[in-house]
Amino acid sequence: MQALILAGGKGTRLRPLTVYTPKPIVPICNRPFLLYQIDTLRRAGITDITLSLSYQPDKIEQLLGDGSDHGVKLRYTVEPQPMGTAGAYKFAEDLIRERTVVFNGDILTDLDLKTVIREHNDRKALATVVLAPVENPRAYGLVETESDGRIRQFLEKPDEDKITVNTINAGTYVLEPKVLDFIPAGENHSFEYGLFPNLLERKEAFYAHIPQRTYWIDIGTPERYLQVHQDLLANRVARIHIKERRGNFESATIAEIDELSMIGDDCQIKPGAQIINSVLGAGCFLEERARVENSVIWPHTRVGTAATVRNAIVGRGCHIGRSATVAAGSVLGDKTSLTDYTMTGEIKS
Ligand code: GDD
Ligand code: MG
Repeated sequence: MQALILAGGKGTRLRPLTVYTPKPIVPICNRPFLLYQIDTLRRAGITDITLSLSYQPDKIEQLLGDGSDHGVKLRYTVEPQPMGTAGAYKFAEDLIRERTVVFNGDILTDLDLKTVIREHNDRKALATVVLAPVENPRAYGLVETESDGRIRQFLEKPDEDKITVNTINAGTYVLEPKVLDFIPAGENHSFEYGLFPNLLERKEAFYAHIPQRTYWIDIGTPERYLQVHQDLLANRVARIHIKERRGNFESATIAEIDELSMIGDDCQIKPGAQIINSVLGAGCFLEERARVENSVIWPHTRVGTAATVRNAIVGRGCHIGRSATVAAGSVLGDKTSLTDYTMTGEIKS
């Protein structure tokens, strides 16, 4: 049993964060995102993992290497240009000619994969898609099922009037190698628009797995990137626990850091600063009376005296000037510099 992680997308919806950091390794609670997926696979005993890359592959390869630091064996494929989701799987064919778990490289879940694989086996399925319930299925692949779990319809990014259920494709599949024969070689091809509708037309054994009490989120937009942090800080994800909330850092005794917040190594927190429900990457500097609330700040960023950052994401190596206000919903790219007293957000009359 092997795994393939589709990690070649450009992460456009997470720009500017993904300009220098490809989406698969954006930090989630100060850990590269892909490590959470590797944990999920390892929990199910899968250690032979291929990463399918296209955008900024070197950065990912440099960070994760051969996987030995993380108890797995990593291999890489790099498409000359993006081949689409199924095209990327076909491109990795030489490495994965056996039953394979495929992950979209931007979903964070505490899924119990062993149960998914057992069910796939019991049903003698050719392909199994894991489902998740969401409030608004429009941005996802809508999946309708029969009472025995067979998939009746797969509709990617449906129009409003086509939405019949709230169960969507969670971006996790178990695939038998035979499906490779249904994917054309050397061209762009998609699971969602190509292979899956094709399996339905052929009436193949194509099933859905509906997990119980499972956390699931696609981290690919700023709202959801922030959301996943809030969920992890609040311990709302049953099988994923943050181990260390406090690195080695210096803090004035009269600074306020709440219990939920996570502080990376080598940060400096000056007197009167407040950190509430937030994550600071390594080497951040908070000047006196700076306030950071419900936010994620990447490493080596400085927040000036009496500046405030609320419900925002601040990239790496930024400088927030004195008394500046970074308003809710702001996303600042790496190395942004805000001069003193800058206000982002709407002008109030
Ligand atoms: N290697 C490679 N090559 N990877 C790719 C390519 C490609 O050409 N295109 C996309 N990917 C990777 C992305 O990096 C991402 O991890 C994953 O495939 C899915 O692509 P997204 O662009 O994030 O798709 P989406 O979020 O709009 O929709 C997909 O995910 C939803 C669940 O989050 C679909 O699979 C939906 O059906 C699904 O509901
Ligand atoms: Mg996505």
